Amino acid sequence: MEELVKLQGVTKTFKDFWGKPKAVAIKNLSFSVERGEILGLLGPNGSGKSTTLKLMLGLLYPTRGRISVFGKHPGDNIAKQFIGYLPEEDYLYSYLNGRETLDFYGKIFSLPSKARRERIDFLIDLLGIKAYQRRSVGEYSKGMARRIGLAQALINDPELLILDEPTNGMDPIGIKEMKDLFLDLKSKGKTMVISTHLLSDIETICDRVGILYQGEFIAMDRVDKLLLPYHNESHCLEKFFLDKVYAEREKREEKRKTEFSKEKAVPAKKPDEVDQEVIRKLLHKE
Ligand SMILES: Nc1ncnc2c1ncn2[C@@H]1O[C@H](COP(=O)(O)OP(=O)(O)OP(=O)(O)O)[C@@H](O)[C@H]1O
Ligand SMILES: [Mg+2]
Repeated sequence: MEELVKLQGVTKTFKDFWGKPKAVAIKNLSFSVERGEILGLLGPNGSGKSTTLKLMLGLLYPTRGRISVFGKHPGDNIAKQFIGYLPEEDYLYSYLNGRETLDFYGKIFSLPSKARRERIDFLIDLLGIKAYQRRSVGEYSKGMARRIGLAQALINDPELLILDEPTNGMDPIGIKEMKDLFLDLKSKGKTMVISTHLLSDIETICDRVGILYQGEFIAMDRVDKLLLPYHNESHCLEKFFLDKVYAEREKREEKRKTEFSKEKAVPAKKPDEVDQEVIRKLLHKE
């Protein structure tokens, strides 16, 4: 299998203005993404999903470790031609309408005018945004903005799609349509890395999932393998996720308490030392 993305021992520490560490977002992370697979990145808020995706794109630099995308440095101009990215935050120019937005991104990829027009028509149809293609994207609802964002990510017909919470804010119909779209893209050989909180949605489309907890994987494997103990149960991935996260939280809390009590523990006094101290206190009425 061809590895499109590879992370080896990657750590990202955010620092403040003075270079002092502020937050360790991911710690010693190693994994790869194989051509043609859908990899889901899960994890509680702040566990490092978006940071991992940004590192793959070269939008952030690792503090330690190595990353390669299409065998090149992340952010390499040639590699970028084959990547589509949907950021977590809305980033669209509010004064452009939907069509103009796609045209703008098509120009960035130097698509010739006719090919651009055809691609935009195709994507507008695919993402179901025909009805509001002429409205300013600043007026779009959250779900509409996600759809135009996805169309933008697909403008260059990328080999690798990096999607940060793609269905966030979408209605159930939208979510179903997006799941079908991802499966269709997979059938065309595309590779996807998707970060999400919608566990039941990702369960049926991902080949593998990784669960991040405070910047480290607490699980990373094929979905069918991870869910083996939960066979025949509905919402298995949600159960697996909650079991894992609660267990990890408890483990770390226990560890923290043990370390804290060790720090605070005062060495036990010998009996005669105690007596001496009591006598001294009584005599001096301390
Ligand atoms: N620019 C930044 N400066 C400082 N700290 C940051 C920055 N970006 C992220 N972090 C920190 O890195 C950690 C991981 O954040 P990240 O955004 O990757 O999490 P996430 O898993 O995507 O969370 P969410 O599910 O809320 O989107 C958090 O502690 C966050 O506060
Ligand atoms: Mg995020």
